[in-house]
Amino acid sequence: MNKKVILSGIQATGNLTLGNYLGAINNWKKMQEDYDCNYMIADLHTLTIRNNPDTLRNNTLDLLALYIAAGIDPEKSNIFIQSHVAAHAELAWILNCYTYMGELSRMTQFKDKSAKHADNINSGLFTYPVLMAADILLYQADLVPVGEDQKQHVELTRNIAERFNKIYGDTFKIPEPYIQGVAARVMGLQDPTSKMSKSSTIPNDSIFLNDEPDIILKKFKKAITDSENIVRFDKEKKPGISNLISIYSAITGEGKENIEKKFDGKGYGEFKVAVAECVIEELKPMQNKYKELKDNPDYLEKIYRRGAERAKEIAIKTLKDVYEKVGLVW
Ligand code: TRP
Repeated sequence: MNKKVILSGIQATGNLTLGNYLGAINNWKKMQEDYDCNYMIADLHTLTIRNNPDTLRNNTLDLLALYIAAGIDPEKSNIFIQSHVAAHAELAWILNCYTYMGELSRMTQFKDKSAKHADNINSGLFTYPVLMAADILLYQADLVPVGEDQKQHVELTRNIAERFNKIYGDTFKIPEPYIQGVAARVMGLQDPTSKMSKSSTIPNDSIFLNDEPDIILKKFKKAITDSENIVRFDKEKKPGISNLISIYSAITGEGKENIEKKFDGKGYGEFKVAVAECVIEELKPMQNKYKELKDNPDYLEKIYRRGAERAKEIAIKTLKDVYEKVGLVW
């Protein structure tokens, strides 16, 4: 039986948060049984901002270790590093010639990032979504699990693919964005109206995957709530408590109503500790496995080399088809 194909990735920027875990990696893990999964470490995308080279190298291997520690099984899923598969950059060039400046100018992430890095609005930042389209289309992915913020990029990918197919005949599978579960958007603990972010500058706003238990507890205790002191889900009026309920629900699998009942009359103090404890328990095995893997660089190298070989085999087929169709001598 042919399984549906999945491709997703995370930028190698380090400091992954609980949001990345609940919104992405933890769902990827669940999809491994039913789909043909490709999970990539997007190191090329990371170059759109300035990085210290050693930090980038370190972050890339960290992310690989974290994927595995979180339960992405290299025997089931194909895990690879984007830059190891040259076809990504090659297809991105071709697709650049089928993407309009107008389309790219409308990308929300481009606008946000240009505002944030006003001193470095480089062309890579502008064409970032085209590289992402290449990532996806090379593998003929059916589904792309992403957070809400990346949906626009997947939609652009569909438009580029449809445009290309219309000119040259069926070449690319048209992918669907797959927006994930309850916790697709874990919000900041201090600013529950914006997404929990790796780069948040507000202290105690983000739970990092390598935070020690006492830090996690402290951050949850300080989480911003409201003055009602009733554990009740109401995203508009009670964004802080609603975010904590979502986190608790994503980890324990309990429904929101159940949670409300369970903490009826208990107040925020007790609820916050309960949320912190379930997060600590959830992260513990992953943190231990992660430390083990970081001590075993040979194993990590074996995984990424093998992943690259497998990925290349798939990617080259699509790239060759594209080269022929556009008229390159191949
Ligand atoms: N742009 C994505 C992000 O910042 C990461 C990414 C790169 C990606 N290539 C991808 C996600 C392909 C899904 C599919 O989160």
